Amino acid sequence: MAPVDQLKDAKVIFVLGGPGSGKGTQCERIVAKYGLAHLSSGDLLRAEVASGSERGNRLKAIMESGELVSLDIVLELIRDAMLARGAAGAKGFLIDGYPRELEQGVRFESELVPCKAVLFFDVSEEAMQQRLLKRGETSGRVDDNEATIRKRFQTFQQLTKPVIEHYKGQGKVIQVDASGSVDEVFGQVQKQLDALKL
Ligand code: AP5
Ligand code: MG
Repeated sequence: MAPVDQLKDAKVIFVLGGPGSGKGTQCERIVAKYGLAHLSSGDLLRAEVASGSERGNRLKAIMESGELVSLDIVLELIRDAMLARGAAGAKGFLIDGYPRELEQGVRFESELVPCKAVLFFDVSEEAMQQRLLKRGETSGRVDDNEATIRKRFQTFQQLTKPVIEHYKGQGKVIQVDASGSVDEVFGQVQKQLDALKL
């Protein structure tokens, strides 16, 4: 993928955290207050699945297994969504659920733009599992069941934790205790983002 010139000045915050840590919930609150564009890799992939394309069917099977889909597909979906939102005036982006493995971060930053910060929602697996099983009663998500949740935790530990360590080494990680209520967590997020002066 050739570097994309239109995005070279974009302000990007990666949003990471285990499955059910509250990435999507907090991003909604951040968008309402700070006006950043929210792009969730999982939502983009689910939209592709919903389109009924052959690629969508392949993606669904991978998501059902709790593993990661191929880097090129995710990066392309995010790049296209950023270009569309950028053309509509967005200057800042919350990239939720990406990068989930080191190579995703490396490719994004070399082909699109370096990130300004990484927002990391930290919470125990017990709490995340409870949230996901509760959501699973109504969400219809193929991955909100006990077996897939276990696999999603493993994938997070093995592949995504090293990403967080990598960005900690660069001093870019904003770690938030995500075990409290949505309002409590957002209170911490606001303090951190205000200090960042976006
Ligand atoms: P993705 O959609 O990103 O799922 P995830 O990371 O497992 O996380 P969730 O979206 O389930 O949780 P969340 O952290 O957004 O929490 P939420 O706010 O919804 O990815 C799904 C799959 O797609 C992956 O497994 C993979 O296969 C594929 N994929 C995605 N990105 C990829 C990538 N970059 N590369 C390769 N493959 C990729 O909250 C969860 C629930 O908890 C909700 O019901 C909410 O109401 C509740 N809740 C939230 N906050 C609180 C709180 N503080 N207290 C109580 N309840 C709360
Ligand atoms: Mg989400």
